[in-house]
Amino acid sequence: MLGSVVPSSRYLVRRTLRPIDWERAGVVVEFGPGIGTITGEILRRLRPDGRLIAFETNEDFVRHLGDSFDDPRLEVVHGSAEGIGEVLRERELEGADYVLSGIPFSLMPDEVRDRILERTRDALEPDGMLLVYQFSPRIGTHLKRVFPEVRWEFEPLNLLPAVVFQCEAEEAGK
Ligand SMILES: C[S@@+](CC[C@H](N)C(=O)[O-])C[C@H]1O[C@@H](n2cnc3c(N)ncnc32)[C@H](O)[C@@H]1O
Repeated sequence: MLGSVVPSSRYLVRRTLRPIDWERAGVVVEFGPGIGTITGEILRRLRPDGRLIAFETNEDFVRHLGDSFDDPRLEVVHGSAEGIGEVLRERELEGADYVLSGIPFSLMPDEVRDRILERTRDALEPDGMLLVYQFSPRIGTHLKRVFPEVRWEFEPLNLLPAVVFQCEAEEAGK
């Protein structure tokens, strides 16, 4: 369930983070931080009063992240991205401004993928956005079923060339 054993390149990290308005990013959620390549870049840009909640299923990575980051804005949840709604509710957070996902959707059962996408849409603020980086463009079809507006960009400068999808929680102008 790793999807790739090589951390994302700085080009892919930059492209994934580019649409984020950091002044507006009070609550950010990350799915599948792995060893924390993107986590560190999010923390570098996040507001002093911002929150970053990262969901990671791999226990070794959870431990590694705990050892690597000493930052009160970060909380690493040892669990699946499927828990996004429940975890935000438990922390009395109304919704996420941005969700960044590096989890390998193409390797998981269809029903788990769909549950994660639907729960993410429901957990986003109305003007929130899901950013997905993947090595296969196939997830695009499923993103379009769940999100009203989906754009995508190609990033060739990564060990495995990647696609970054930007998914709006609500249609523009609504
Ligand atoms: C490709 S790695 C991401 C690496 C890292 N974000 C980077 O850019 O270098 C995918 C990560 O997703 C985690 N993962 C897989 N399924 C998950 C799920 N349902 N919820 C949360 N994390 C998951 C894996 O344990 C792995 O750490």
